Amino acid sequence: MSVLFEKTKIKGIELKNRLVRSATHEAMADAEGFPTDRIFKLYERLAKGGVGLIITGYTYVSRDGKFKAMLGIDTDEHIPKYRELVNQVHQNGAKIAMQINHCGRQTVKEMTGTQPIAPSAVFDKSLFVMPREMTEADIERIIEAFAQAAGRVKESGFDAVQLHGAHGYLISQFLCPHTNRREDKWGGTLENRMRFVTEIYKRTCKNVGDDYPIFIKLSAYDYMKNGLKPEEGVAIATKMADMGFDGIEVSCGIGEDGGSTLRGEIPFDVILDEWDMYKEKGFLFRFIMRNFGSKLMKPIPFTQGYNRESARQIKKKVNVPVFAVGGMVDPTFMEETIQSGEADYISLCRALITDPKFPNKIREGSREVSRCIHCNLCLFYLSTRSVRCYQGKRMKSNQS
Ligand SMILES: Cc1cc2nc3c(=O)[nH]c(=O)nc-3n(C[C@H](O)[C@H](O)[C@H](O)COP(=O)(O)O)c2cc1C
Ligand code: SF4
Repeated sequence: MSVLFEKTKIKGIELKNRLVRSATHEAMADAEGFPTDRIFKLYERLAKGGVGLIITGYTYVSRDGKFKAMLGIDTDEHIPKYRELVNQVHQNGAKIAMQINHCGRQTVKEMTGTQPIAPSAVFDKSLFVMPREMTEADIERIIEAFAQAAGRVKESGFDAVQLHGAHGYLISQFLCPHTNRREDKWGGTLENRMRFVTEIYKRTCKNVGDDYPIFIKLSAYDYMKNGLKPEEGVAIATKMADMGFDGIEVSCGIGEDGGSTLRGEIPFDVILDEWDMYKEKGFLFRFIMRNFGSKLMKPIPFTQGYNRESARQIKKKVNVPVFAVGGMVDPTFMEETIQSGEADYISLCRALITDPKFPNKIREGSREVSRCIHCNLCLFYLSTRSVRCYQGKRMKSNQS
């Protein structure tokens, strides 16, 4: 039997294999953040496709941290619908965790109804957002919002909760020196930059109890000039494990660093046609971006398992499960990653967007590599459409 299909346990949850659906924003929630029938159908397909653990798309803990058609868990009213979703996934043989998030400066006023907030007022060059620096009261409110949200996750029956500490969203904004320029106890030293996530963790533990699994997804490095360096990522992960997190998913990047989180193509034509903030730009800007975008913001080429080395470095230092995510496309490579002790779980995003049955195919003996071509249209169409595989196809503007 392939090592990918060994049964494992994390703090009492039994997982039937080592394959995980990495959190994937579906852009399928209704205006109040409730899951729609389309989410139910998508999760049914994923669970039937054989993945052991599904992590939901990022879910907002507070309305000032939301994005378009994002799931929400900011009120108790959300609980009954999530209970139904959890039951459906369980009936189809998979486990499910919810990823909770606040977008911080990686959202726009049109989504939040208010100026986006961040640790520091640092302009976001990808969304053209100047956030407002958070006050002490904001910080306290959002820490509490995460902890309350985690309590609702548990009450809804999810098997675990995952804090989104990656990709330049609020927790990651506190960790990264490029986005956190504070000179008070929330910024500066590594210990200070970690204070926000530490407080969230402590208060979450109080709300969900010691026996409930709390995971974190971490951008362990990024490509910003004054961003997070790999050594610091390892130090953060080590402290997180010591703190008590039950699993660390090792990712990378922030929104404006050239697409390191996904690698592969940045479809500038689609961004210019679909994203409102780019549509508003003048002719000259649009002409330059359409024709020379890839020279100005250099896309980072796709390579298989691009965070494996980072996961390996972290795995050497921690004694909690490590999830490797990013470019996991080849079953043999995934097995090697587990067998060599570099990670305990393999997280998949685009491979499951393009084919939710990928895990079952591997279990049945297939050695075929995922058919995803890293065109990244599934991500860049999310400003106007829902997630699916567009496989290199440009759609007519504003057609869902
Ligand atoms: C359409 C799309 C939506 C995503 N949404 C999320 C999300 O909600 N939360 C998150 O942590 N990562 C999100 N990601 C990043 C993935 O979880 C993953 O880290 C990244 O795509 C690399 O994995 P892959 O090579 O298997 O796709 C998203 C990626 C894509 C393509
Ligand atoms: S649209 Fe399909 S082929 Fe392109 S990156 Fe997304 S999953 Fe892969």
